Amino acid sequence: MALPLPAPPPQTEAAPQIAPQIAPGAPSRPVPVARPRLPEAEAVLPYLRRIDEARWYSNFGPLVAEMEQRLADRFPAGTRIVTTTNATQALTLALKAMDLPVGGQYVILPAWTFVATAHAVVQAGLKPWFVDVDPDTWMLDPASVAALGARLRDACAVIPVAAFGQMPNLGAWRAFQDATGLPVLLDAAAAFDTLKDARLPAVVSLHATKVLGLGEGGFLATDDAQLAHRVYLQTNFGFHNSRDSQVTATNAKLSEYAGAVGHAALDGWPADRLRWMRAAQMLRIALIGRPEVKFQEGWGSEWVTSVCTVGLPAGSAPHVTRSLREDGVDTRAWWGEGCHRSTAFTDCRREALPVTEALAASTLGLPFAIDLDAQDIGRIVAALDRALG
Ligand SMILES: Cc1ncc(COP(=O)(O)O)c(C=O)c1O
Repeated sequence: MALPLPAPPPQTEAAPQIAPQIAPGAPSRPVPVARPRLPEAEAVLPYLRRIDEARWYSNFGPLVAEMEQRLADRFPAGTRIVTTTNATQALTLALKAMDLPVGGQYVILPAWTFVATAHAVVQAGLKPWFVDVDPDTWMLDPASVAALGARLRDACAVIPVAAFGQMPNLGAWRAFQDATGLPVLLDAAAAFDTLKDARLPAVVSLHATKVLGLGEGGFLATDDAQLAHRVYLQTNFGFHNSRDSQVTATNAKLSEYAGAVGHAALDGWPADRLRWMRAAQMLRIALIGRPEVKFQEGWGSEWVTSVCTVGLPAGSAPHVTRSLREDGVDTRAWWGEGCHRSTAFTDCRREALPVTEALAASTLGLPFAIDLDAQDIGRIVAALDRALG
């Protein structure tokens, strides 16, 4: 006798990945702040068939190995790539693999970042020390960090963050590392497009909301083969060619299914990059008459990222957010009021943070997507016109 099948779960509407924050009474079709788009099923299928044939599903299978090679090919020869389940893990494991002194030691990071940067520091057994950013680049400035002088002795590493995908001056950071002896790890989570240099270890996110997404994923890029090996050990229980755990570690490996999506995404990347550029340039052109809306330098003309964070007149972000919401245009303060303001990090060491506080009140993530169309752009511009007067 056939056993009764369990009842199917109740049908619920699929939760949008980025739930819109729209005011009651706003136009019925909101302009969402993001509309991630990963490769379609047909593009992934040939790679899924390879998984079926190989019957190799995880643990450094051929698809992930080939994907790491394709990622390495974007960097100078000799660059090592270590993939991980997400960028937060890659940052954490890189900090652990850097053999920094643990306990009572501080890692300097910008207060103007996503909370993942600080979470990674704590997960690695270290302590966040928030420092302010430069008002023009929105990023840590190596000269300001160096100006901490003798207090730098309290730090064991620095994590500059590529703000929303913009590349900091890596030469200046290498010079900082040489001059101070403090190791530098770059959080380049949103900088898939702009990161081309792995002389400082750098971490990129492959989350669905990034320009090249797998759903969840990330990688470390480094020219330091030993560091890459230690991070690889960290992703795999400390195993290498034996069942002996060489170091305390975790499991942060990518499955072959993520590798399949990664290959399809990389196949589509040259065309997708142009699409991101086109969307950004359409938005920039539509806002030419609004000089008070400031784009990051080179955004959409020299480099691409999946978010559009703009600078607005000082202190106006809360008002603009409300006004756009009334017009059905969703926005996001991607980094909230600054990482240091999150409950989890309120007790952490910090310098004075006036620039971060000002950025939190004067920057805003506008709707942006690879296929942002003229109609949505028209609504964004009209809503900004109304908000800014
Ligand atoms: C600056 C920064 N660091 C780290 C991360 C974490 O990336 P992931 O979601 O892959 O863990 C993000 C995610 O957006 C980020 O913006």
